[in-house]
Amino acid sequence: MTMANEALSAKELELLDLARQVRENAYAPYSNFKVGAALVAANGEVFTGCNVENSSYGMTICAERSALVQAISAGQRQFTMIAVVAGDDEKIVTPCGACRQFMAEFTPDFPVLLQTADPSNPVVRTSVNELLPGAFRFADR
Ligand code: THU
Repeated sequence: MTMANEALSAKELELLDLARQVRENAYAPYSNFKVGAALVAANGEVFTGCNVENSSYGMTICAERSALVQAISAGQRQFTMIAVVAGDDEKIVTPCGACRQFMAEFTPDFPVLLQTADPSNPVVRTSVNELLPGAFRFADR
């Protein structure tokens, strides 16, 4: 993982801002931890998602999977980048294991940008494959 704030393109900054905006819609009354994700599909369209919790805690859906489900529902299956904004302090949060596997299902490797809610905080640039090397997939499908 590399810190790369100064090397961010205008498009990457825009994507982080979209993730920051959708994070405001997070429904997180139990954890109080809001997450927003903005996902770029191969056709250039951007899909966003936030975490949605439930009083039956295990039903919670992460922001990353919300964005992916939006994209898949719209017919997109190839992705070129995802930005995830989470947390209020300076500590970067990485996507959970389930979301890593969910991303790898559709595009085995694409860049992942991570930032906290404060846009002046550093950005971590990583990738799906770096986060989940050896993701499960059926050998014959
Ligand atoms: N969460 C996400 O939305 N994405 C992640 O990658 C990790 C965790 C959410 C789930 C839950 O609503 C809250 O953060 C605390 O776990």
